[in-house]
Amino acid sequence: MPKDRVLVTGGAGYIGSHTVIELINNGYEIIIVDNLSNSSPDVIPKLKEITGKMVSFVNLDIRNKLALQTFFKRTERIESVIHFAALKSVNESVEQPLAYYENNIQGTINLLEAMLENKVNSLVFSSSCTVYGSPDHLPVTEMSPLGHTPSPYGYSKQVCERLIHDTVHAHPELSAISLRYFNPIGAHKSGLIGEVPSGPPNNLMPYITQTAAGVREILSVYGDDYNTPDGTAIRDYIHVSDLAAAHVSALSRLQSSDKPSGVEYFNIGTGKGSTVMEVIRSFEKASGRPLDYKVVGRRDGDIEAIYADASKSKEILKWSAQYDLDDMTASAWTWEKNYRGIN
Ligand code: NAD
Ligand code: UD1
Repeated sequence: MPKDRVLVTGGAGYIGSHTVIELINNGYEIIIVDNLSNSSPDVIPKLKEITGKMVSFVNLDIRNKLALQTFFKRTERIESVIHFAALKSVNESVEQPLAYYENNIQGTINLLEAMLENKVNSLVFSSSCTVYGSPDHLPVTEMSPLGHTPSPYGYSKQVCERLIHDTVHAHPELSAISLRYFNPIGAHKSGLIGEVPSGPPNNLMPYITQTAAGVREILSVYGDDYNTPDGTAIRDYIHVSDLAAAHVSALSRLQSSDKPSGVEYFNIGTGKGSTVMEVIRSFEKASGRPLDYKVVGRRDGDIEAIYADASKSKEILKWSAQYDLDDMTASAWTWEKNYRGIN
């Protein structure tokens, strides 16, 4: 007897595809809904190759309310939803705020409505540590106050958390978990799937691997005058496969009788902060090659440091990160080499 059938919105994307593997490996039957706006259909056969199982995929845009409702009506046995589908570029969101609000907020409203109408009562939401803004105290716990999020992207995550909270409050049959991801990097150990940014990457890890692969000329390190041990900013990098595993734990939690009603929030990070220079050094060790970089000024909107207190996840979700920074940078490089056909 298979476990619940899980609907994975955005399951063809970077984190979604890694999560699908963990779900299948843990006996879940899954169905992916994705409009492929930031992913490729090629990932679906790769998922089959890695797991040895068929993966159901439906090309659907969650902004299309009617199509989403029809999908729910026609699809039997959906027990839970993991909601990844969103636009995620901070810079792009500043240039196209309405596109981000429509996609991320309207998409989530459509999903919640369809869930309620079809009595699908369990939701895991992809949130971000960006909801904490620039924290006053480190590490951040789930009780840390939400902060100012300068970009429409970051604000859309706060709004979605709030609208899920209010919907669950009004409909207590609905149960939700919001996972606040820190900085996911790396790739599945098979080297078959990984992060494929469209255009020049905004984020550090893909910029590093693309520079090493010769796709980018040089990495700009944004600022070395922060109040940190080497002057570069600190983040809590987490292996994407560890992050994926946290979703399996969240689903178990949603199904357990211990789960209190309402929304629960969990930090998904390692609890360890690393500077930009530490990431570069780790990458150089993993790849065995020096990286071209130059220090430039700080990036607008960047914060000095953030890392998680992940003890609530450990205690309640029984989840903690297994991989360290060297595992993350090594797997990111393996993926980049495979993707570019580099030996
Ligand atoms: P991604 O872009 O690789 O994956 C998102 C997927 O959603 C893509 O496959 C895209 O095609 C799909 N999608 C977008 N809009 C859609 C729509 N309207 N209808 C159907 N499908 C749609 O991004 P990711 O890095 O895998 O992120 C997944 C989730 O995690 C997002 O909600 C993101 O905001 C959140 N998150 C990501 C990070 C990160 O650093 N990658 C950090 C914190 C939170
Ligand atoms: C960014 C987003 C954040 C989002 C997160 C995960 C901004 C301001 N914030 O956060 O909302 O939740 O990604 O997707 O964009 N760096 C360089 N050179 C580069 C790229 C990055 O030095 O070319 C530095 C950054 O200054 C930062 C660190 O590397 O100190 C990590 O950057 P990045 O990967 O973009 O993640 P965040 O800034 O944490």
